[in-house]
Amino acid sequence: MTNATTTFDTTLADLRDRALAALAVADDPEAMAAWERAYLGAKGELTGLLRGLGALSAAERPGAGRAANAVKQELTAAFAARNEAVASVSLEAQLAADAIDVTLPGRAPILGAEHPVTRMVAELGEIFALMGFQTVYGPEVETGHYNFDLLNIPSDHPARDVWDTMIVQSEREEIVLRTHTSPMQARTMEQTEPPVRVIVPGRAYRYEAQDASHEWMFHQLEGLAVDERITLADLKGVLTELARQLFGPQRKVRFRCDFFPFVEPGVDFAVDCAICGGGGCRVCKQTGWLEMGGAGMVHPRVLRGVGYDPDRYTGFAFGLGIERMIMMKYGVDDVRAFAGNDLRFLRRMARLAA
Ligand code: PHE
Repeated sequence: MTNATTTFDTTLADLRDRALAALAVADDPEAMAAWERAYLGAKGELTGLLRGLGALSAAERPGAGRAANAVKQELTAAFAARNEAVASVSLEAQLAADAIDVTLPGRAPILGAEHPVTRMVAELGEIFALMGFQTVYGPEVETGHYNFDLLNIPSDHPARDVWDTMIVQSEREEIVLRTHTSPMQARTMEQTEPPVRVIVPGRAYRYEAQDASHEWMFHQLEGLAVDERITLADLKGVLTELARQLFGPQRKVRFRCDFFPFVEPGVDFAVDCAICGGGGCRVCKQTGWLEMGGAGMVHPRVLRGVGYDPDRYTGFAFGLGIERMIMMKYGVDDVRAFAGNDLRFLRRMARLAA
């Protein structure tokens, strides 16, 4: 035995001992992978040692090769056995960590609630369904034709300025964000023959400075009834019924003359303040009355414009502020709250309505 083989054998024995010692303490998959790289991998110690065999003499090489291969097999087998044990332990650890304790009390989910406007729209739908009105919806992006022209507001009419309009850029046609839900009057009549009885809840947009009672986006409830022999008394009856359903049987209503190009005569509609009973308070600004919107008898020009015969048919229309109604009902004093996304407001409204 030469010095070279002795050195080789010593190195091999030392390597084997160190490898087995390190293997015994490797106790997770990462450590196992590192161990495999360090000893058996392509750049590992044992592979390096095997490469070194070439430096030995031809006589020494076979014996050293056998010894090294024996160690390689031993380490490979030891690795496989240990690996299996570590893998099953780590699987168990993972299962234990992921285990769900079914005896723990559940976490209460945080429930959302319907937006007060959504809720009011649903309530209005029910009230009007009982009076024979169907709910329909229309586009928020409108043409000037429907938003103005068919409502007897031609482009040179000064009343067109009353609705501060948000204009949608378009080369070909006048496109606007509807300034009211009234365009649905014309759209509905164009598509149906009388009798017509619809309500149209939806968003409307106006280019306005915001304050406690003005928003650039708000909701309206349009109403339209057209038939033979419909009169202003029908309009009063329907709106009075609405006020009582919404705010209680004691409510009084008030109709005063007002002007809208698409009705004749036109009125503004107010309800005595449910908060103070008409005596005057913060919500009604000491007037005792809360204005809910405009109304009137559909203008003969509007009827003619959609192909109805104004000598045979008459109708009424109204356009009411939905946020307004909620503010009146619950004493909210700032419209901006509705689109303000303040959870405290939304939760309070949900509680009040519950
Ligand atoms: N569209 C009108 C407005 O927004 C309200 C209205 C509707 C008036 C129907 C009369 C009839 O101001």
